[in-house]
Amino acid sequence: MTTTTAVTDQPDLADLSDLSDLDESVRADPAAHRVLTGDRPTGPLHLGHYFGSLRNRVRLQRLGVEMFLVIPDYQVITDRDIADRLAEHTENLVLDYLATGIDADRATIFTHSSVPALNQLLLPFLSLVSVAELHRNPTVKDEIAHSSQAAVNGLMLTYPVHQAADILFCKADLVPVGKDQLPHLEVARTVARRFNERYPRPDGTAVFPRPRALLGAAPLLLGTDGGKMSKSRGNSIPIGADEDTTARLLKGAKTDADRRIGYDPAGRPEVSNLLLLTALCQDRTPEEVAEEIGDGGAAALKRTATEAVNEYFRPIRARRAELAADRAHLREVLRAGSGRANAIADATLAEVREVMGSL
Ligand code: TRP
Repeated sequence: MTTTTAVTDQPDLADLSDLSDLDESVRADPAAHRVLTGDRPTGPLHLGHYFGSLRNRVRLQRLGVEMFLVIPDYQVITDRDIADRLAEHTENLVLDYLATGIDADRATIFTHSSVPALNQLLLPFLSLVSVAELHRNPTVKDEIAHSSQAAVNGLMLTYPVHQAADILFCKADLVPVGKDQLPHLEVARTVARRFNERYPRPDGTAVFPRPRALLGAAPLLLGTDGGKMSKSRGNSIPIGADEDTTARLLKGAKTDADRRIGYDPAGRPEVSNLLLLTALCQDRTPEEVAEEIGDGGAAALKRTATEAVNEYFRPIRARRAELAADRAHLREVLRAGSGRANAIADATLAEVREVMGSL
């Protein structure tokens, strides 16, 4: 009997695929795939996001894959009491998406809070996971450890199931994410599988696909302090930063005292990171960049990196500035995205109610 085993069985391991593996199947039939991913509206996106994820999204969209971008505003209040400057952060995410090449006419960009039927899927989905499973999620555990809140709230524990609703409401099959999101992908796959087992359609077919994680092949960029580049650690270079700010941030980046510049990610992570950043901007190898700088030391390396970043992002930033002047347009993009997301979520919820036997 599936209903008794479903909640206690082993977690599924998400299929991990990097883009290159999937390239062929995506290229062969882009229309057969749907991508959903998103970014919390907690601050501006940075160069780590760009090279780790945004660039790939644009690539997938240009291949012809349908793209859904959720701005998970409800996820902001998992580890803090109030979502600070929510409207501003949300608009800035839309700006970053459009400026880096997402085509708003073909993508669906929307916030969690604007799609009621998506949120309603949370209720049946919560019945498909055990409390023990919620407690075991390593990403949630890590976020609890780093949270500044006095007590863990209920949303912190359950948001991965809500995230499953983000992915499943539109029946996305590909979810580009970083490694930290793999436990959440596993939850989405588990929810899909258990739902399908428990509530098959009358003809025996499944309501939900099993989504796959798309792990970006791009190497991880470090922040200016040598730690992981992160919105909340004050060590990132925003995509939309101006050229002087970029120069100042890179000038303050941690390096080392060896004048000879070489690429050695394990031994000299900070220097190697600036080489990698430069290389990504110039479509070269970090070794080539190191060779060129030679004995120039950290100052020359930082100058080179600053020029490379400013040059690469100049057209993106110019476009961002143009788009930023028209806030009404950004709101319109969100309104259109939310309209489309609502239509799809309503249809999925109707299907769910039907297979569950609701009247
Ligand atoms: N949890 C993700 C993050 O913190 C954001 C997110 C919300 C997401 N819903 C999603 C990512 C659905 C991929 C798919 O970055």
